[in-house]
Amino acid sequence: MSEKYIRYQGIIFPAISSEESHFQYVRNEFQVRDNDIFNITFPKSGTTWMLEILSLIYKNGDATWCNTVQNWERAPWVEAKDLCAIVEKNTSQRLISSHLPIQLFPKSIYNSNAKIVYTARNPRDVVVSLHYMCKTAQFLEPPENFTETLDLFLKGEVIYGNWFDHITGWLGMKDKLNILYITYEELKKDLRGSVVKLCNFLGKELDDAAIDSVVENASFKVMKNNNMSNFSQSDQINANISPFMRKGVTGDWKNHFTVAQSEHFDAVYQERMKDVKMKFPWDQTSIA
Ligand code: A3P
Repeated sequence: MSEKYIRYQGIIFPAISSEESHFQYVRNEFQVRDNDIFNITFPKSGTTWMLEILSLIYKNGDATWCNTVQNWERAPWVEAKDLCAIVEKNTSQRLISSHLPIQLFPKSIYNSNAKIVYTARNPRDVVVSLHYMCKTAQFLEPPENFTETLDLFLKGEVIYGNWFDHITGWLGMKDKLNILYITYEELKKDLRGSVVKLCNFLGKELDDAAIDSVVENASFKVMKNNNMSNFSQSDQINANISPFMRKGVTGDWKNHFTVAQSEHFDAVYQERMKDVKMKFPWDQTSIA
């Protein structure tokens, strides 16, 4: 395994931000608060986008916070030790991001009323986005080619593990946690409607102008130009190879998968998702 990764409980994580002792701390000692709001995703599923939407809703549509504070400080990743310290110092209502699979998530979630937004994305597009991320992020191992990324993804040998385990694990929390499932594809199709749905879930009443502002400031165009949201200030991302805000579309997988890869992916998907009742936008025939 590359020295850029560590393995913990069978899953690989970026060594730059991951420590076994911190994972244990997060799981067993981190205290979730009743008014916490969690932004949960498998990497490359729209984490940053949802973070922005939640930040804007949190501030009732006022974009000042998003324009002045880095996203990783607004909704820090609990699994990263330095960022977790920011979370724990925060005495206000907290926005917290995480890519953790459910089995590594803080146990204290089960005794709390914290709200969780789980954003999923067509895994085919997740692979593509991850492929470019691995090329551009210095803390990840650059792949030889797309075939390599796809193989590793299907084996669960990518950061944060197996996509199928991640999503089925979190879907299994439907009746146990205060959780809203939403997809990248829904955000793309109807951002305004999605914002309203999120406001309802979070118990936030925003007027039309505030909702308009959330929609405008969470658009791909605005976020791509916002240095607090586009990771341009991170020394880990080489935008010359591929910017973090890359394409921001659905269905880019069609430009990357061969027919054989697509058929193989479908077969694995069918098998791994056969017990999942929830239907996703990408489950429709013209998978997009
Ligand atoms: P692409 O690489 O397909 O462009 P994450 O934040 O989980 O790492 O996900 C990153 C992906 O979300 C990237 O996808 C990025 O372009 C996309 N993204 C970020 N903000 C977006 C927005 N406002 N609208 C659409 N896509 C967005």
